[in-house]
Amino acid sequence: MAEECVPVIRYEELPEGPVVVLLDQTRLPVEEAELVCTDVPALVEAICSLAVRGAPVLGIAGGYGVALAAARGFDVADAAEQLAHARPTAVNLAYGARRVEAVYREALRAGAGEAGAAAQALAEARALHREDAEASERMAEYGSALLADLVPGGGMRVLTHCNTGRLVSGGGGTALAVVKAVHRAGELRRLWVGETRPLLQGARLTAYEAAEAGMAYSVLTDGAAGSLFAAGEVDAVVVGADRIAADGSVANKVGTYSLAVLAGHHGVPFVVVAPVTTVDLATESGGDIEVEQRAAHEVTEGLWGRSPGSRMGSGGGPALAPVGAHAYNPAFDVTPSALVTAVVTDEGVASPVTAAGIAELCSTSRKR
Ligand code: MRU
Repeated sequence: MAEECVPVIRYEELPEGPVVVLLDQTRLPVEEAELVCTDVPALVEAICSLAVRGAPVLGIAGGYGVALAAARGFDVADAAEQLAHARPTAVNLAYGARRVEAVYREALRAGAGEAGAAAQALAEARALHREDAEASERMAEYGSALLADLVPGGGMRVLTHCNTGRLVSGGGGTALAVVKAVHRAGELRRLWVGETRPLLQGARLTAYEAAEAGMAYSVLTDGAAGSLFAAGEVDAVVVGADRIAADGSVANKVGTYSLAVLAGHHGVPFVVVAPVTTVDLATESGGDIEVEQRAAHEVTEGLWGRSPGSRMGSGGGPALAPVGAHAYNPAFDVTPSALVTAVVTDEGVASPVTAAGIAELCSTSRKR
């Protein structure tokens, strides 16, 4: 199915020079439009505006961005720096940018010359893209097997949050790849899709992917989750992660922590799915994770009906709050490991979620 879709990200060598082409996620589900980035500032802008978003594909974007800088003769160190810091929470972004930068530097040191080093940088970015696709498949296998154990009897109703499918990945994604595997096995009764205020990654993007896959799904407001649990309508929560600290704490889209608390209260399994590239052993605990704070207008203004030419979330939308209202708008929150039933990665599953279990997954990792 994914082959027929507009690619989420690709690096293309055009006669006028190389470019990174993105499926502009700010335009979904209204239209499938592509955004062509000819330089690093354009790609950084695309990352900040969430035209490309979600942890694993941010790593791929970071890698291609560095390869683009190398091929176009821009300052590679500066490009890697800009990309690595474009958004602070998803560790994959810095990982992808730094990994490709390291290959470029090493190639220069080894005497490959600028063109040779640029070619090696691109090969590394393409390898990262491929590895991410393979990681998706392994997560889907591990995760669907785990859910079959956690929710015996089949016909499960799964609640998810934000978007974690093919739009965030070189392949099928993380949490949503697991849900798709459950669906393909005929075991998904319903996917509950939290709308994910304020930028609606659930309603706009996960629902788009669920429809594409032919799933039975319902979109709910984030505030409706509590009553859904109370009604006994949720068999498992499956979400992704932007960064997993060494102690197993999970940073993910804001609203995830509330779902984990609800799941704990109602005795429902709460499963996090992420590649090992999302684990950051250098971040000791959840409190050390930098949470991105975003602009107030994302909360106080609607996404549609904006002034002509303005992008989603760029301001100029219809007022949802009095002009000048202050807003609290963290993009992510942190869920402590005690509330997480299992962390599913491409290297296996940690359950219970402990620092030792997380370290063990990383020690067997293909991650460089
Ligand atoms: O702000 P976004 O849309 O980049 O946030 C994305 C998420 O929080 C996803 O749940 C997360 O990156 C996991 S996707 C594998």
